[in-house]
Amino acid sequence: MATVLMTLGACSTQGNENQETAANDLDKGQAAIENIMTRTSVRQYKDQPVEQEKIDIMLKAAMAAPTAVNLQPWHFIVITDKQTIGLLSGQQPTNAPLLIAVCGDTDKTTTPDGKMKLPDFWVEDVSAATENLLLAAHALGLGAVWTGVYPAMDRTAEVANVLNCPKNIVPMAVVRIGYPDESPEPKNKFKEENISYNKFGGKKE
Ligand SMILES: Cc1cc2nc3c(=O)[nH]c(=O)nc-3n(C[C@H](O)[C@H](O)[C@H](O)COP(=O)(O)O)c2cc1C
Repeated sequence: MATVLMTLGACSTQGNENQETAANDLDKGQAAIENIMTRTSVRQYKDQPVEQEKIDIMLKAAMAAPTAVNLQPWHFIVITDKQTIGLLSGQQPTNAPLLIAVCGDTDKTTTPDGKMKLPDFWVEDVSAATENLLLAAHALGLGAVWTGVYPAMDRTAEVANVLNCPKNIVPMAVVRIGYPDESPEPKNKFKEENISYNKFGGKKE
């Protein structure tokens, strides 16, 4: 993290107009980048409910995600009922006061004119929404963790059953959210070897 911010800061001293604009962009982006780089999965929560205002912001952030042909093929189920939280925890018990099940809506995978059918892209769309949700939670002082559901079909059926989902609503993830009761260090996952330039295996110039 420190490296990212130092790099951004260094750019702001450069001379010409383009570089200045770029430096301003970088300055403006610092808070957002810092939020991304400091997010980490949080699995222990205080016994404190999450305010509805924060829930609304997280849902708005989730639905700001990009989707293929802007189909927005999703549905979000907000769960605060303790019994339902227990039923959804499966093999991994939780003390989270809030879960949000992020679901695909397969009835929304065709354009309104019927010309374009995208039966599979909903998974990417819903994943983008889930990451936005995690980042919003972190920005609001909450801790969260993505727990996987789809495409593990047994788990998908189990969650859909607990939540009374109709056939077209497919739970893809259950995000656990609450005020953090642990402070795990963000993991540094940046690896140069995962990057190529221009073609696979190509080096940075
Ligand atoms: C598709 C997916 C499924 C996951 N499922 C679980 C899960 O079932 N239980 C859990 O504790 N964490 C789960 N995680 C969280 C990952 O373990 C976590 O993101 C990863 O270890 C990296 O850590 P970080 O989020 O702190 O960067 C899942 C994450 C993703 C993206």
